[in-house]
Order: sequence, then structure tokens, then C-alpha cells
Amino acid sequence: MLKVGFVGWRGMVGSVLMQRMQEDGDFNGIEPVFFTTSQVGQPGPDIGVDVPPLKDAFDIDALKALDVVITCQGGDYTKPVYKDLREAGWKGYWIDAASTLRMEDEATIILDPVNRKVIDNQLAKGAKTFVGGNCTVSLMLMGLGGLFEADMVEWMTSMTYQAASGSGAKHMRELLNQMGQLRDSVGEELKDTSSAILDIDRKVTAAMRSGDFPTDNFGAPLAGSLLPWIDTKLDNGQSREEWKGSVETNKILGLQNNPIPIDGLCVRIGAMRSHSQAFTIKLKQDVPLDEIEDRIAKHNEWVQLIPNDKDATVAGLTPAAATGTLQVPVGRLRKLNMGGEYLSAFSVGDQLLWGAAEPLKRMLKILRE
Ligand code: HSE
Repeated sequence: MLKVGFVGWRGMVGSVLMQRMQEDGDFNGIEPVFFTTSQVGQPGPDIGVDVPPLKDAFDIDALKALDVVITCQGGDYTKPVYKDLREAGWKGYWIDAASTLRMEDEATIILDPVNRKVIDNQLAKGAKTFVGGNCTVSLMLMGLGGLFEADMVEWMTSMTYQAASGSGAKHMRELLNQMGQLRDSVGEELKDTSSAILDIDRKVTAAMRSGDFPTDNFGAPLAGSLLPWIDTKLDNGQSREEWKGSVETNKILGLQNNPIPIDGLCVRIGAMRSHSQAFTIKLKQDVPLDEIEDRIAKHNEWVQLIPNDKDATVAGLTPAAATGTLQVPVGRLRKLNMGGEYLSAFSVGDQLLWGAAEPLKRMLKILRE
């Protein structure tokens, strides 16, 4: 029976992982051990099977006793502990949600509905380090995997609309506090349906710009606004999030030696936990739209093709519809005015599920096959 250690299981991604594993009975048939950075010795979580008291997440000897470590604790944990553990001679499987190790040669980025062959090849070669991809990348590939599988894509841009959860739990709370503060600034005016909308707008803008608007986490108003920058700046003017779109996609697909050009702009918007993306795709050939739709729809069981009409789009192709589900709706599929090789598409997906927890959960299952 695999002895599997869980680190960072109480955080946002970790909690989603726990919930999904319980839903699917994944704790049966493994020996789970829960680790903590602050509450050593306290009882482990109630997951329907017996678990020992919490162990110290920095105790290399305790970690060495495991066959598998699954961590959602973040990069500050991965950085020192992974190195120490490997240097101590540990040969187990490290499954990680953090980006720290993603682009290392020894790491495989996991998204098995898209790159099961890459994962299997790596396992056959003895690879032991498996890392979940960036959430926009994973969600893009879950939605458009059929086009990449058929080698149809010459290049692609992705313009993102990323939810607050991608920054963390505190950011989600701040977004809601910002929304509440905006609404409260015009509570009286909203009661009066005849009040002037430009007065309301002026007050809301003043509230957004005032010194007591809560912006500690985002650094700027997000509610009623947007932030066209995610993560740090690279020398070429890309944000790190934009850079990941290209390098991670090509690594997941095993195309590092012959990469598909991918670039775009990453934007934070006031959604809670579903990321959306608008794509411009240059196809290698002018393929009929019905064949494109067919390839996209049949690629995996979670893609949900949304017809390109208004009612279906506003009902199904939104964060409000996708959040909390494993569905990845893809729609707005049409050829652009530039010509038959230019395709537009839009996708949405829960960034805590396919964007974070689900690939980790599934990797553990692959190890158990
Ligand atoms: N970097 C992502 C974001 C988080 O900021 O939305 C998921 O990888």
C-alpha cells in the first residue's frame, strides 16, 4: 500500500484536493499521512479512514519514509524541502502544485487528459517529480486539446480574464470587500430608482479611489475595474504569467524542441475562481468549422462545446456557470475576418479544479495503476 504524505492540505488548493479525493474514495487503499508546519502532534483530519497525528512537514526523516509526497504548500516550502529530501537520498514520487520545479528537467508537468503519453514515457524513464501546470495553461489545454492533438495550431494568442482565487484566498476576500464597499457607498441612491446614474457613478469612483478602499492584497481596485498585469515583469516586457503560457504549454505537449508560438496578455478581473480566456488561433490549414468543433468536443469528457449564439453563451460560457464543476466550456468558435485559417475561441474553467487540484489527484491514481 502506498504511503502518501500530504502537505498544505488545509490551504485553498489543498482543501479542494481533499474534497475531490474524498468524493472519489481516493483515500481507500493508500496509507495517508498528514503533515503540518505549525500543529505537530494534533489529530489528523477526518477523511473516513484512520490517520496518525500530524507530523512535521520539515522533518526530512518522516518524509523519507513516504512513497509519495503531495504538496500544495507553495514554493517557499518546495524550494528547501525538495532539495534536502532528494539530497538525503529519497527516491519517492514528489507531486507538487507549486511552480518552483515546473521547468526543471527532472520535472514533468502533469495534465493527463492532454499529455498522458508524456507522463507514461517519463515514468518509464524513472521520473519521480511531477508538477501541476499553471492554471490558465492547464485550462486552455483542457479546452483546446483537440486542436493540438491534431497538430492544427500554427500559433496562438491567449487573452486572459483571471479570477481572484489565482492570487489566493486573501485576495478573494479583498475582492468581496471591495465589491461591498462600492455598493455601500451608494446604498441610499440605489434605493431611489429615480436617482441620477452619473451621481452614483461619481460616488462609486470616489470610493474606489479613496485611501480607505481595501487594496492591501491586489495593490489597486479590482472590483469595478481590472488589472492587466499578473505576476512579475520579465526583461522582454512579458509578465511571468504570460511567459508561462508559452513555455509550459510546449513542455506539457513535449514540444520543447519545436515549440508552437503562444503569447498574449494576462488580466485579473473580478471573478471569484474561474479563469476565462479569449483565443486567436492561426491554423496550419483552413479546416472547416464543423471538423474543428468535432475535434475539440471529442478530445476529453470534460470539454463542453457551447454553440456560438448569445443565449447559449451567456448561459453556459461564464465563470458563474463553470465554477465548482469539472466542465470546461469552449465557445465563440468562428472563423475571423482575417481568413479561413484564423479561428476565435473562448473558454472558461474552475482554476482550483483542473487549474490546480485535479491533475495532482489524478497523478496519484496513475501511480496506483
Ligand atoms: N498564476 C495563476 C493566477 C494561478 O495568478 O491566476 C494559477 O496557476
